[in-house]
Amino acid sequence: IAGLTGDASSGNLLFYLATPPSLYGLVPLHLKAVGLNTPRSRIIVEKPFGYDLRSARELNRIYASVFDERQIYRIDHFLGKETAQNILAFRFANGIFEPLWNRNYIDYVEITAVENLGIEQRGGFYETAGALRDMVQNHLIQLVALTAMEPPAVFDADHFRNEVVKVYESLTPLSEKDFSKHIVRGQYLPSANKKGYRQEKGVAPGSRTETYIAMKLNIANWRWNGVPFYIRTGKQMPTKVTEIVVHFRETPHQMFHCAGGNCPRANKLILRLQPNEGIVLKIGMKLPGAGFEVRQVTMDFSYDQLGGVPGGDAYARLIDDCIQGDPTLFTRSDAVEASWKFFDPVLRHWKENPDAPLYGYPAGTWGPLESEAMMHGHGAAWTNPCKNLTNTDQYCEL
Ligand code: BG6
Repeated sequence: IAGLTGDASSGNLLFYLATPPSLYGLVPLHLKAVGLNTPRSRIIVEKPFGYDLRSARELNRIYASVFDERQIYRIDHFLGKETAQNILAFRFANGIFEPLWNRNYIDYVEITAVENLGIEQRGGFYETAGALRDMVQNHLIQLVALTAMEPPAVFDADHFRNEVVKVYESLTPLSEKDFSKHIVRGQYLPSANKKGYRQEKGVAPGSRTETYIAMKLNIANWRWNGVPFYIRTGKQMPTKVTEIVVHFRETPHQMFHCAGGNCPRANKLILRLQPNEGIVLKIGMKLPGAGFEVRQVTMDFSYDQLGGVPGGDAYARLIDDCIQGDPTLFTRSDAVEASWKFFDPVLRHWKENPDAPLYGYPAGTWGPLESEAMMHGHGAAWTNPCKNLTNTDQYCEL
């Protein structure tokens, strides 16, 4: 029961389903049976909302038979992160980047959300989910939307979520030939003192559940068509980091000498969501002294400078929004279906082709080498951050 006495939200009922996903369809029906679906009820449902497109549609149907859409809060805690919201502020509260934010100036975009932990005690859940359902279909695709969306006419729940759905609907559907070319899935293997996925509690000894995914996406609209969005997530990587790296196009001609043969012809913008939340711009600068050698340097901003807690609890923010009745940062029914519609063929392909490639990677490494190969066609490479960044560090790459 939410709300302090005397507060506008007093007397509202708030149900929060952080239950096994198999109960998501059952609970609302029971709430209805005992009359708890009052006009003052709200319900928060954890992700993954659905197991595939069909089950997500079915869940949406069940929820719509119990609650109004305005009472349903499909939570994705990434949207509660200050730094995720700051992508919008960065893009739409500044005049200088948005004119460049399109296919004319951007070469490709990388989105990384990796962790240095394994699946911990969640073997049972993870076996039914895998990285695609656990991270990609919700968190990563939300980050794609924040990076790629058009500015909403007004910043409110409807306008914002309309723009999110448009991004999902613009994703070029993946076809048979893309499954091996544009998707790399992996599973961590034992290494040094770390267990492999198949040795984790609750995991089948011959499991083919993916703990790593890298994908190449295309957004077929006027702003982005032809600009690859490379996204990846993985467990048991060298570090935990969530960041978006925007690679601008190269200068048309390099007339300077390059320090160490490394020609910094393309600017990079890094939006770091965690840890050491901040923004880094890489630019070429002349090395002091004789001659004209250029090297890439970084301009960086750390959210620490704003005071407050950028890493503040995303859940607290979202639950408070729900108590206040603001659904902006929650996923609407059409968005959840549009996202599943895109990923459904991938899941179906894996189901129908159990031998489809699943690459092993030693725990504690950056994932299967095949994910590097996936980018080579575009002359691109993953940006792997240093293991132990501190706030004062310059951005560094391995
Ligand atoms: C959760 C996933 O939604 O997000 C976890 O179920 C994952 O597997 C977690 O570890 C990552 O969230 P964060 O905020 O720690 O990056």
